Amino acid sequence: MARDSFSNKFGIIAAAAGSAIGLGNIWRFPYVLGENGGSAFLIFYLLFIIAIGVPIMVAELIIGRRSRTSVFGSFKKLRRDKPLFHLVGVLGLLTAFIILSFYSVVAGWTANYTYLAITNSLADKSPEELNLYFKEFSSSVILPIIYMIIFMTLCAFVVIGGIKNGIEKYSKILMPALLVIIIILSIRASLLPGAIDGWKFLFKPDFSKLNASVILEVVGQVFFSLSIGMGALITYGSYVKKGENLLNIAISVSLADTLIAILSGIAIFPAVFAFKINPDVGPGLVFVTLPNIFNKMIGGYIFSIAFFVLLLIAALTSGVSLLEVVVAYMREHLHIKRKKATITASVLVSIIGILCIIIPSLFDQFDWTSSNILLPTGGIFISIFVGWYIPKSDLYDELSGHGVKHYVFEIIIFILKYIAPTAIFLVFLNNLGAFK
Ligand code: TRP
Repeated sequence: MARDSFSNKFGIIAAAAGSAIGLGNIWRFPYVLGENGGSAFLIFYLLFIIAIGVPIMVAELIIGRRSRTSVFGSFKKLRRDKPLFHLVGVLGLLTAFIILSFYSVVAGWTANYTYLAITNSLADKSPEELNLYFKEFSSSVILPIIYMIIFMTLCAFVVIGGIKNGIEKYSKILMPALLVIIIILSIRASLLPGAIDGWKFLFKPDFSKLNASVILEVVGQVFFSLSIGMGALITYGSYVKKGENLLNIAISVSLADTLIAILSGIAIFPAVFAFKINPDVGPGLVFVTLPNIFNKMIGGYIFSIAFFVLLLIAALTSGVSLLEVVVAYMREHLHIKRKKATITASVLVSIIGILCIIIPSLFDQFDWTSSNILLPTGGIFISIFVGWYIPKSDLYDELSGHGVKHYVFEIIIFILKYIAPTAIFLVFLNNLGAFK
């Protein structure tokens, strides 16, 4: 079976950035940043993206390209003699399933709000009504299930197309569209009277809020936002051709992810402050607070459609990357054809998604367990595996052979061997409440 691959560098970057840029950037990043000292958080965020995020992303891409197989079989293919690491492949597959099943529920909410925005159904609602609507909608069953299935169908449609003619094709169109929308939104928000307070909230340094737990919070956001720690980028890496510079790709993707996160902050907070809304309302920020703002704003109708379409695009290309992890496994290890594999995987995910909708505690459990336990665990093993168990000559071949300078190469290996596993371990402990 000839293996599909990305056609060029822009295609790879668009797809990987599509995975990274998601609900985590547009909703979570601004909120977490706002709560943790604004630009003080930002400085450390950037530091950790460069120091840990980029090296681990490179590690995943290396595992993928060297093994040329899905996350499930990649560790085994590279080191048959290290069975402990083979479990990381199983873990990755499991994590993809778990993340996708609750991610698709939230993406379904986004699809619903996109529809409401287009039909202008939110415009006549008071703040109380909007709040009530979100509560009732998100705790109901039928509509969320329908929208979740619509979202999974969209993901399946893209994944069935394969790499070149599916994921790459759509990412190449959708990611630049997303960039354009978010730039327009952030300019519009910044022109509101009173917007300056939003800018201050985001960028005025406040180091007084900085402490150990904030720094660990930063690391957690870096992992989730970059899509690292479970092998989504191992899977994408397996479709990257030999000649491409993996470090270059990781840097571009991380830059794009960070840019969109910052632009999301600029699109949301000036508006939040201009309309004197409490910035730290949590999950409701996007679904409850923003429609209020759109209602009070000139051009709010267009602004609201643009925003929810943007959020849906971001969620779609992230969902696609998670679905591809499962589909790649089913194709290569169970020998199921792409179309059948995609439909089967989507149906399975939808069934678990329905369970998440019916049993809210399961939703919370999946959300919590995946980011706080499964991703950090995967991250530790991925960096240790590449740092210690892939022969240095092979790593050299993957990186330095493609224009990466020798000292940069040595730094990346050092980070993967020592720094990254230690840092993730600390995040892990923090998430378990060890520092509380
Ligand atoms: N990074 C995406 C976001 O910010 C979510 C995501 C997609 C993800 N694929 C992932 C997170 C793989 C961890 C691992 O919304």
